[in-house]
Amino acid sequence: MRTPYYESTMHRQIREKREDRKERIKNDLQLYGEDVLNSEEMKEAFQQTHHRWSTVGEHTFRVAFSSMMICYALKKLNIKVSVPAVVIGALCHDLGILGRDGKYSSSKEMSREHPKESVTVARDLVADMPEKTEDIIERHMWPAGQSKAPNSIEGVIVSAADKYSAVKDIVKGSDVKKTGVKYYVRDEKEKIKDLIKDL
Ligand SMILES: [Fe+2]
Ligand SMILES: [Fe+2]
Repeated sequence: MRTPYYESTMHRQIREKREDRKERIKNDLQLYGEDVLNSEEMKEAFQQTHHRWSTVGEHTFRVAFSSMMICYALKKLNIKVSVPAVVIGALCHDLGILGRDGKYSSSKEMSREHPKESVTVARDLVADMPEKTEDIIERHMWPAGQSKAPNSIEGVIVSAADKYSAVKDIVKGSDVKKTGVKYYVRDEKEKIKDLIKDL
């Protein structure tokens, strides 16, 4: 973030707090989600459009960011949350959408089937899946569609972050400067770096 020429103590404190939080999220994503972040699937995710203006990759990072914010807020309230399960669940929840034109015959089928497919992708990418992760991914569409409710607080976190981020994808996408489209022309690694920086 650009540092303003002059800022009050209060504004400086707010800015520093935001920067610390971003750093914390970045570290947690890298610590628990390294295998997914470095995967070919994650690179491919930035090539596939999602929610009209966004990409699967950009949406994924929004979901991961919002999920972590909820985790930290709950931790402050002394509510136990498994951060590794949330990180892997959020990063993998929509990877089953990749190559959707060849996999699903309609949007309805895609919406119903992609959570199961995302579980399969996650199993391939992560050797030791944290407990609850498969359930988080499989039921992330809740309360939309026919999905059953998640069995854990971590599942509710990712489902809520997913719905919030879907709205954000569409609203932010209407501002062309903020849409995932700008990442199409860049090198994949740069895209992921930029995305983490922009969170
Ligand atoms: Fe989804
Ligand atoms: Fe999603």
